[in-house]
Amino acid sequence: MTNGKVGIAISGAGWVAHAHARSWLKNPQARIVSVNDIRRERAQQMAAEFGLDCAIRDNFDEVLADPCVDVVDVCSPSHLHAQQGIAAAQAGKHVLVEKPMALTMEENRVLRDAVAKAGVKSLTSFVLRWNPAVQTIKSLVDSGAIGKVFFIETDYWHGIKPTHHAWDLHSKRKTAGNAMLLAGCHALDALRWLTGDEVVEVEAVGNNQKGLFEYEANVVAMVKFRSGIIGKTSTLLDCEMAYTFNIDVAGTEGTIRNNRVWSKKLFPGQTSWTTFPTVLPDSADVSHHPFDAEMAHFLECILKNRESHCNVADAYHTHELCIAIDRSIANGGRPVRLPLE
Ligand SMILES: NC(=O)c1ccc[n+]([C@@H]2O[C@H](COP(=O)([O-])OP(=O)(O)OC[C@H]3O[C@@H](n4cnc5c(N)ncnc54)[C@H](O)[C@@H]3O)[C@@H](O)[C@H]2O)c1
Repeated sequence: MTNGKVGIAISGAGWVAHAHARSWLKNPQARIVSVNDIRRERAQQMAAEFGLDCAIRDNFDEVLADPCVDVVDVCSPSHLHAQQGIAAAQAGKHVLVEKPMALTMEENRVLRDAVAKAGVKSLTSFVLRWNPAVQTIKSLVDSGAIGKVFFIETDYWHGIKPTHHAWDLHSKRKTAGNAMLLAGCHALDALRWLTGDEVVEVEAVGNNQKGLFEYEANVVAMVKFRSGIIGKTSTLLDCEMAYTFNIDVAGTEGTIRNNRVWSKKLFPGQTSWTTFPTVLPDSADVSHHPFDAEMAHFLECILKNRESHCNVADAYHTHELCIAIDRSIANGGRPVRLPLE
């Protein structure tokens, strides 16, 4: 901490990093002290764009050795997240890591254990937990407005094409993992976050309609939760439509369909759906994502010595679910039990 401000190091100065930087700059409790990128000129450009007075680097070890750095904000490509997150934790830095934080169960476990051993704070960037519609749905479910939840569905439908700036990385197994790790993890995280429950069994099938990805681009999975809740989730990367994130939750006293509510408890005289005005999560644009609230939450966790509900120990389970779904697809849709290890 310098002058009472938490020192932030951004690792990887690409698209999402610019959105992170905008949010850090809005927060008076944070100061960006370092930007690093394997392509140094990218770090330089970003610092110039935001008028940052900070260290510019292409060497990640220098970031770890810098005493002004309190938080390493890992915005590099997905296949580097676990190794940078683990190294940051081992250097005693708090870790904010973009999704997916790991591409294999081994990376998932080692990152979780490294953060726990170092005793640093962590946050995995499942940014939809701060989306206003998701927050309202969570509040309605937790307050019992729809009674006891027995079904949930979440869907991530976003056609990703070869024109995407990160196509070479996103389309390959080695650097993206699979459709769930690349993108559907947001939908899987919403399943867990909104129910407050863990999945114990999955059955999944997938296809690759356009043959552009090295893995199944389109996936549907049936899930069973510990409490008996049943659910469904799908990820469509081959779809032709505007980005859509769908949430349905059914309970014994009502139902929520995105921002539409049916609740015998709240509206006993209801004759049609009640709609609440909000910001839906229906955009893939990082400038639409609620990073301001996410960063403010993480700073509060650090300054008040609290654990985040979205720390790597929690996100471990979302990543485990992504990998379980991939294993079920590889096994012809046969059920896979969780936990995997
Ligand atoms: N939470 C979200 O909703 C969300 C949204 C967008 C992207 N993301 C995630 O953010 C990550 C980055 O995505 P992006 O679209 O910004 O990618 P990008 O290609 O725009 O940026 C990645 C940057 O990392 C740099 N880089 C490569 N190797 C590096 C290394 N070893 N050390 C430091 N920097 C390195 C690249 O040069 C590039 O500038 C991805 O994992 C993606 O899944 C998350």
